[in-house]
Amino acid sequence: MHATWKKKSQEEIKAIVFKALEKNVNYDTQNILGIPASYLDEKVFHQDSSLAKEAPFISTLIQNPNHIGCHTLGKSESFFEGTQEIEKDLIEICAVDILKGDPDEQDGYVASGGTEANIQAIWIYRNYFIKELSAKREEICIVCSEDSHYSMDKASNLLVLDIYKVPVENDSRAITQEKVREVILTAQNDNKKYFIVICNMMTTMFGSVDNIEAYTSPLTDLSCEFKLHVDGAYGGFYYPFTNEVTRLTFKNQNITSFTLDAHKMAQAPYGTGVFLIRKGYIQNVNTQEASYVEGEDFTLIGSRSGANAIAVWMILVKNGPFGWQEKVFILQKRTEWMCKQLSQLKVEYYRHEKSNIITIKSKYVSKEITSKFGLVPDDHSSPDWFKIVIMDHVTIEKLVMLIDDIKLHVTNL
Ligand SMILES: Cc1ncc(COP(=O)(O)O)c(C=O)c1O
Repeated sequence: MHATWKKKSQEEIKAIVFKALEKNVNYDTQNILGIPASYLDEKVFHQDSSLAKEAPFISTLIQNPNHIGCHTLGKSESFFEGTQEIEKDLIEICAVDILKGDPDEQDGYVASGGTEANIQAIWIYRNYFIKELSAKREEICIVCSEDSHYSMDKASNLLVLDIYKVPVENDSRAITQEKVREVILTAQNDNKKYFIVICNMMTTMFGSVDNIEAYTSPLTDLSCEFKLHVDGAYGGFYYPFTNEVTRLTFKNQNITSFTLDAHKMAQAPYGTGVFLIRKGYIQNVNTQEASYVEGEDFTLIGSRSGANAIAVWMILVKNGPFGWQEKVFILQKRTEWMCKQLSQLKVEYYRHEKSNIITIKSKYVSKEITSKFGLVPDDHSSPDWFKIVIMDHVTIEKLVMLIDDIKLHVTNL
């Protein structure tokens, strides 16, 4: 195992974060007169409170470092270099320890969320095709499945790229080579020559995982130019731990980038999407006009909170790789337990065997049940499915109550 991700004690974490904060500028004691930023308003957030002194995340929030730009490229804003180093460490843990990339071979940053990270990827590939392969914008398209997250539609709209969706089979939620081939042929017929492909590592509604070869085989057979991004916004901190032999890692040369959201399965604060990409591509979205930013800006977002990166790093190193494995193992066991109960009641549901999402056909749950247990529909106006997401707080005690209500409901069907 690569050495970056190691479990750390609370004392070690505190020492590392407070040392990093000391390396950042101190608005109080130094003369920092040129940036439109400061520590959080002292009337509300006291820097010297005993709580802050013990709490590295709260202290970072109060000191309010701005992690604008991308820090894996060498040059960044020197004002916040201490905490940026921790973000670099976090990117390395995600890219190397979790997604099996080679050390120092990926760039990345903590984005506002999965939406931004997905748009960032598509933006990079659109510009790559235009700059490197002299593509015309109209010749480039996005290909994803009908179960892909709607951020792909946002990207299509913002970046003015046509989008083609591969239908999935209703019960298996799988894409097939045949369907992908049909979609590519349709796109080629529309004069599309460059393909930005999104492969799902656990979809929003079903937790399904796309078979990457269903995309890459027909793309290769039909001699398509393509770049492939993996949307692991939901699954990125889960699936690599339930499927050790997954093809969805940086070892797979067909994959260039990933999204993984720490504010979903990793229980981090909102604003912690992680974007990762092989070195050599992010330069396609360098905004050179960002001339007042040291190191320029290769990200979509602009200013962003350094405290977010610290929070994710703290969560990962506090658990350590084995702690993480155990956390996921428990959620898998609970999911298996729930599936068993549903099967006994002959309730029809979808669950990918490596996932913690269970999606039930809507006839098996009443309106009362869905609102009592906060189940989420695929479509609020005419739901076909409702999902249960087995998170840390979704304990068997709570699931038992749901099963009891479903039992009553199905006996009356
Ligand atoms: C698979 C997938 N991709 C992208 C997103 C978008 O993430 P965010 O809401 O953080 O922008 C989600 C959110 O649910 C998701 O499940």
